[in-house]
Amino acid sequence: MRAVVLVGGEGTRLRPLTETIPKPLVPLVDRPSLDHVLDHLAAHGVHEAVLSSSYLEERFRSFIEARHGRPRIVWITEEEPLGTGGAIVNALEHLGDEPFLALNGDILTDLDLTAMRAFHEERRAEVTIALHRAEDARPFGLVLTATDGRVREFREKPEEPVPGDVNAGIYLLDPAVLRGWPRARPLSIEREVFPALIAEGRRIYGFRGEAYWLDLGTPEQYLQAHFDLLEGKVRGIRYPAPYVSPEARVDLRAHLGRWVSVGPGAVVRPDAEIDDSIVLARARVGAGARVLASIVGPAAEVGDGATVVGCVLAEGARVAPGLALEGARLGAGEVVDPRSVTQGSGGPL
Ligand code: GDD
Ligand code: MG
Repeated sequence: MRAVVLVGGEGTRLRPLTETIPKPLVPLVDRPSLDHVLDHLAAHGVHEAVLSSSYLEERFRSFIEARHGRPRIVWITEEEPLGTGGAIVNALEHLGDEPFLALNGDILTDLDLTAMRAFHEERRAEVTIALHRAEDARPFGLVLTATDGRVREFREKPEEPVPGDVNAGIYLLDPAVLRGWPRARPLSIEREVFPALIAEGRRIYGFRGEAYWLDLGTPEQYLQAHFDLLEGKVRGIRYPAPYVSPEARVDLRAHLGRWVSVGPGAVVRPDAEIDDSIVLARARVGAGARVLASIVGPAAEVGDGATVVGCVLAEGARVAPGLALEGARLGAGEVVDPRSVTQGSGGPL
């Protein structure tokens, strides 16, 4: 089976981390989250995955070169952002005539894709949309189904905080239903394609799999994904908790809580205390520093004796020794020292 993985979003809600790293390449414990997505696809027999992004395209090149094994990756050009529907239509010529998978690239899940395919075939569906139960559908696409699972309505980002089945961002699509849609203009699968196909009376079904599922789109969810992985909540993936990369240097006198991940090349100095946080590659947490509920980005630095609580430090950001920050967002390379006036923006995590 083939798949198209949507990796071209700008990751706005995960800024400032995504100023320099595309969201799918932000690490999840020991490898980019896109590796987890591709491994999950491989485990369900996907042999080829088509990817495209006009945003930070060059950053994907080294990822593709470093990746081995299945699925084979086909990178295609997307000159300007085509949206979720446009990116799929743009990939059609590489996806063959059989039903294929299309996935949002920012989802961590252990959904049984093999069972989803069997469901798709049994129903003779043209489109199958994986569903996830949400208490508040506003950040998602609300999917209303009949008792037999047939989709009656697709309402992207509803305004009211209603509970319900939401779009999990994983579809099985018969390529024939997408023929005729424009190739070279932005198109939303959620707002344009699905409502139109429903109106045409196409066979669209919702598939409820009992699965772990999380959208990695915000700092809170990105941290939560780590905690869940460290707790072994995602089927098929196991890590020791805390996770410390074999290439990290953590002083024996540092204190790491259970929900902590430390990436390769990171340095944690004596008496530093880290809890409910992730420290990405080449970052540095100084002696006696405290890091709580925070994301310390690649090569970022928390100075000796400094405290960060609920903060996001983008690549290369630096907090001077002894400072205390709460709820701050530091952009790439931003330095906060006693003389700086800006202390980042945004509320606590
Ligand atoms: N190639 C490409 N081009 N990919 C894109 C583009 C584009 O122009 N725009 C967005 N994407 C990718 C993003 O990288 C992401 O992986 C996926 O499409 C979905 O975009 P998000 O921006 O993350 O959307 P969302 O989280 O607000 O909502 C979507 O996901 C929800 C589930 O998490 C929708 O599909 C909702 O209906 C769904 O419930
Ligand atoms: Mg998303």
